[in-house]
Amino acid sequence: MVQAGTGSGQEASEPLIGRLVIVGIGLIGGSLALGLKAASGCREVIGVARRAQTCNQAVALGVVDRAVTDIGEIVGELEVGDVVFVAVPTLAVESIFSQLKDRLPAGVTLTDGASVKGSVIAAARNVWGQVPEFLVPGHPIAGSEQSGVTAARDDLYIAHRIILTPDENTGLAHTRRIQGMWEAVGAEVLSMPVAEHDEVLAATSHLPHVIAYGLVDTLAHDAENENIFRYAAGGFRDFTRIASSDPVMWRDIMLANRDAILKSIDLYTSNLDSLRNAIASGDSEHLMGVFTRAKAARDHFTTMLAKKAYTETMQAKEVTFVAQPGGSVNGDLRVPGDKSMSHRSIMLGSLAEGVTEVEGFLEGEDALATLQSFRDMGVVIEGPVNGRVTIHGVGLHGLQAPPGPLYVGNSGTSMRLLAGLLAGQQFDTVLTGDESLSKRPMNRVANPLREMGAVVETGEEGRPPLKIKGGNSLKAIDYALPMASAQVKSCVLLAGLYADGETSTTEPAPTRDHTERMLSGFGYEVLRDGPRASLKGGGKLTACQIDVPADISSATFFMVAASIAPGSDVLLQHVGINPTRDGAINILRAMGADITLENRREVGGEPVADIRVRYAPLKGINIPEDQVPLAIDEFPAIFVAASCAEGKTVLTGAEELRVKESDRIQAMADGLQILGVDAEPTADGIVIQGKGGNSDGAVFGGGVVDSLGDHRIAMSFAVAALRASADIQILHCANVATSFPNFAELATGAGMKLVVR
Ligand code: S3P
Repeated sequence: MVQAGTGSGQEASEPLIGRLVIVGIGLIGGSLALGLKAASGCREVIGVARRAQTCNQAVALGVVDRAVTDIGEIVGELEVGDVVFVAVPTLAVESIFSQLKDRLPAGVTLTDGASVKGSVIAAARNVWGQVPEFLVPGHPIAGSEQSGVTAARDDLYIAHRIILTPDENTGLAHTRRIQGMWEAVGAEVLSMPVAEHDEVLAATSHLPHVIAYGLVDTLAHDAENENIFRYAAGGFRDFTRIASSDPVMWRDIMLANRDAILKSIDLYTSNLDSLRNAIASGDSEHLMGVFTRAKAARDHFTTMLAKKAYTETMQAKEVTFVAQPGGSVNGDLRVPGDKSMSHRSIMLGSLAEGVTEVEGFLEGEDALATLQSFRDMGVVIEGPVNGRVTIHGVGLHGLQAPPGPLYVGNSGTSMRLLAGLLAGQQFDTVLTGDESLSKRPMNRVANPLREMGAVVETGEEGRPPLKIKGGNSLKAIDYALPMASAQVKSCVLLAGLYADGETSTTEPAPTRDHTERMLSGFGYEVLRDGPRASLKGGGKLTACQIDVPADISSATFFMVAASIAPGSDVLLQHVGINPTRDGAINILRAMGADITLENRREVGGEPVADIRVRYAPLKGINIPEDQVPLAIDEFPAIFVAASCAEGKTVLTGAEELRVKESDRIQAMADGLQILGVDAEPTADGIVIQGKGGNSDGAVFGGGVVDSLGDHRIAMSFAVAALRASADIQILHCANVATSFPNFAELATGAGMKLVVR
């Protein structure tokens, strides 16, 4: 049995398949022939074409080794391991099958490339009475509007998908052979039931072709539009490119996949009708709704085709930082918008009545995941463009059921806060996330929601996915939080918007209060009394303007950078210094950092300042436990500062750090040890022996550290390089884009030496 091409351990000298017979030497068949030849994937390619001229051309172009006009001439030569690929228009497949009936030697595999699989199965049944075990129906999702043998290319299938639709009669060995053949030319092979294939292709390929042919034909026939092609610009060209495709092939496809295509056309026609009505009646909301949703879908189109609500482009990339030693940081910097406030601006803006304008929105993947979730629930959201977002609020009861699970990537804040407000909806939802988020605890929100009467299911051990049943009436509770968590507090308060009565939360220590402040900004009364916050369900939010200040968590990397690198002097502009977030300033100052707050002001209910930080020698401290929740996201960077301080720094009471995007105590201790720092993790903190001493020289050695896909770990080690003696290579840094997409750019602009690979 011949296995798949890549990773099969096959010797280059031993071809994957014996002979390849291409029936129909056009773009599709010819490209397979060229690709397999380039990969030394078969012994010989024999072409079969109706016209002698095509045969001669194919041989002359080197697409095939020899060619015949009648398959009968060569079928007798074939033997075990050979493959016949039928690449003729869909409706001609049956006649080729008839010519092969009773003549194909045993062990030869038959496959095809037709775009409709139901008709190929029907053709096989007409000819053989059933699908023969040697037939592997397939469809390469590749092509071009060019056709014919002259268009054939050896790279046509690289990184393209091939869908196989094997029948229950199809032999496994034959399927594997065809899979190996396609993988050898660089394609990715999937398998799918026939009916599903035909429906998916009707919607994603056949319908666009009908529309493109129809549009060009309409315009070409319209006398008043005779100049249309002369003035047509990029839009027309892009949209109608596929109307140059082979008419015979596409006529066949339309006839062969009739029912599925009709269904798609009907759906599209009714959508077009509503657009027509919206244009006729000047319904700008409807137009914006369709256009903004379609734009977002187009931006994520691969995943929309898979009928998912939203998926990540984010896990796809592998990013390594190489942070080179030395340097200092200088200049005026504005780090991106606050992540917590950006999430909340989308959530509350969506649930408000009226249009909310947001400035300074963080265009990082976490906040964008929240934004996309609300689009998936029918909210019209314009932007973000340069941090500006316009949200057309639908009111507390205006969300619609999303088309599939809401995928929130790496974002714990999205999942936990959304859980609260989804518990109050009339529809069911499923919240999913990436690998890191799928390991994080969700019972901390599921439990109080259940107390309120919500029906919430988690995955194993209280991990995601979260399945939230709609249609339950929620009752108000008084919830004493078992841990200091703003996400849990916010989740309960957001569910409280939908609960009957007054919901309250009491926290064991102050945590960020952006939810409470922003709810007030939207005109929703939140009573606050020390650790207690409460609100009554059933009110309404009124749209407002939100100016999101720069994120103090992102600013902290530069506060630490400037504090540890001699010669540094930075001004961090317009940073949010909410007293529930300023722990890093307090801790660094206690260590001796030179930090001054300039131009203090209040913007939209949040205190803001420009933060000036100059290099100063640091000393180790015992970090006061009351500062822990106020600096919860800043500890990875603070540990880097502690490593550069003189003496010991001890952190306690910070067990929450073990359940962040990574176990931040362990991840930092491991990395710091690799770089030569004495860092001992404890159950609820860490003990770091600072190496600052009286020298301004290197504190860290070089080495390779793993950020474990945790954005803050990655950025902290990049900062450490300012005081390193050699390169620090930091693995798995793609998630820096979740909170600080332009980190590398700002860091290098300020004087750090960071290479992104
Ligand atoms: C956040 C709360 C904190 C913080 C997270 C953002 C928020 O999490 O670590 O980055 O926006 O409410 P916990 O509530 O789990 O402490």
